[in-house]
Amino acid sequence: MIKVFIQTYGCQMNEADSEEMFLHLSARGATRTNNLDDADAVLINTCTVRDHAEHRALSFLGRLCKWKRQNPKRIIIFAGCAAERLGKQLKKRYPYLNILSGAKNIEHFDQTLDSSGLFSPAGQAATPTPGLSAYVTIMRGCNFNCTYCIVPSVRGPIKCLPAADILADATRNAQAGAKEIMLLGQTVNAYQDGNTSFADLLNRVSEIPGIERVRFTSPHPIYFTPQFLQAVKDNPKIAHHVHLPVQSGSTKVLQEMKRGYTREIFLDKVRALQVAGFEISTDIIVGFPTETEDDFAQTLSLVDQAQFIAAYCFKYSPRQGTPAAQMQLHDEQTLENRLDILLNKVKGLCEAAYQRQIGSTQQVLMEEPRKGRSSTNFWVQTGLDFPVGSVVSCKIEKAEGTLLFARNEHD
Ligand code: SAH
Ligand code: SF4
Ligand code: F3S
Repeated sequence: MIKVFIQTYGCQMNEADSEEMFLHLSARGATRTNNLDDADAVLINTCTVRDHAEHRALSFLGRLCKWKRQNPKRIIIFAGCAAERLGKQLKKRYPYLNILSGAKNIEHFDQTLDSSGLFSPAGQAATPTPGLSAYVTIMRGCNFNCTYCIVPSVRGPIKCLPAADILADATRNAQAGAKEIMLLGQTVNAYQDGNTSFADLLNRVSEIPGIERVRFTSPHPIYFTPQFLQAVKDNPKIAHHVHLPVQSGSTKVLQEMKRGYTREIFLDKVRALQVAGFEISTDIIVGFPTETEDDFAQTLSLVDQAQFIAAYCFKYSPRQGTPAAQMQLHDEQTLENRLDILLNKVKGLCEAAYQRQIGSTQQVLMEEPRKGRSSTNFWVQTGLDFPVGSVVSCKIEKAEGTLLFARNEHD
């Protein structure tokens, strides 16, 4: 019996891919371990969206040299986006690496395992054991060409999975105990399969018996239409939270990034979502090569206006082969300064977003007896115990940092 240790870097899609890869491993007799010393195989599923992410995966691979020397029969699998970008050169740099499987190979991972000759023939895979929330990939790849981004080159063009397969996957997860389904794709709301639109898919997943809530990530602003809002806003099972990456508050920079929208269009979409009761979080990049002090000031002012509940802020990281990587970079100090200023602002505004919830009533899906997540994606602490997996109506009476406190009927 081969025991496999799995280390995943990167986004939720990578987390979902790791689970998929584990099912192929389990069909070939592998079980999972959380103890590296006890493992016979390691699967590293990597990210390359920023240099730092790739570096972490490579330094883990470097450290495995000693682990492998302790027992040369041990197996190392290097998979995902960094594996796709770096390709065969990795085998030269790390000769002890056994299997290389780039992100584009995810659908053929089973064949890669079989052709390695290191695993027994495929049999029955383990039954997936989702927690309360299960990831379901609905689309792979990306058709955009944002000038800073490496994802399209390592993941390839969009491929939407058939709606019937997605519904079957979500149903399997519901039957195994999941209460929440998170639909995944790099531009998830561009989903289309025959006559099934993204809104149709959300509604259909929400009708699966046992499913209390449907989330999705990451949508692209240009696909949020009034028709979409109309189709989903009255469905209480569709989470009223949207993670909507803006990247910059300057229309000029957005154009240079090739994002396909202006500052005003983005803010209009945010307002329409907020009017329909959705809360918004975002991603922001500071220090894109052409970003001036004035452009950066516009990002700060957009953050002021948009009332985000959270914002993930990144220093621009040049990625080889992308158009922006040809441009003149800012010095590190400028990136640090801008990131510091932005993070400070975001912290204050997000705390204010929590304070705004006081007095509101939130529908909370309990993840622990006294703690759960609201449809709008706030963590809520309750005064009484409730069954894990149930949805509880909570009146918010206090906010501390990034936690809301509820008063429940019997408190
Ligand atoms: N598909 C999603 C984002 C995927 S990548 C979208 O288009 O919105 C996740 C986040 O990483 C992005 O939103 C962006 O903020 C950040 N990112 C991507 N490339 C980057 C780079 N070269 N440097 C810094 N941050 C980057
Ligand atoms: Fe990257 Fe842009 Fe595609 Fe998002 S939409 S994955 S940022 S290219
Ligand atoms: Fe990273 Fe690949 Fe996701 S580059 S962010 S793991 S799509």
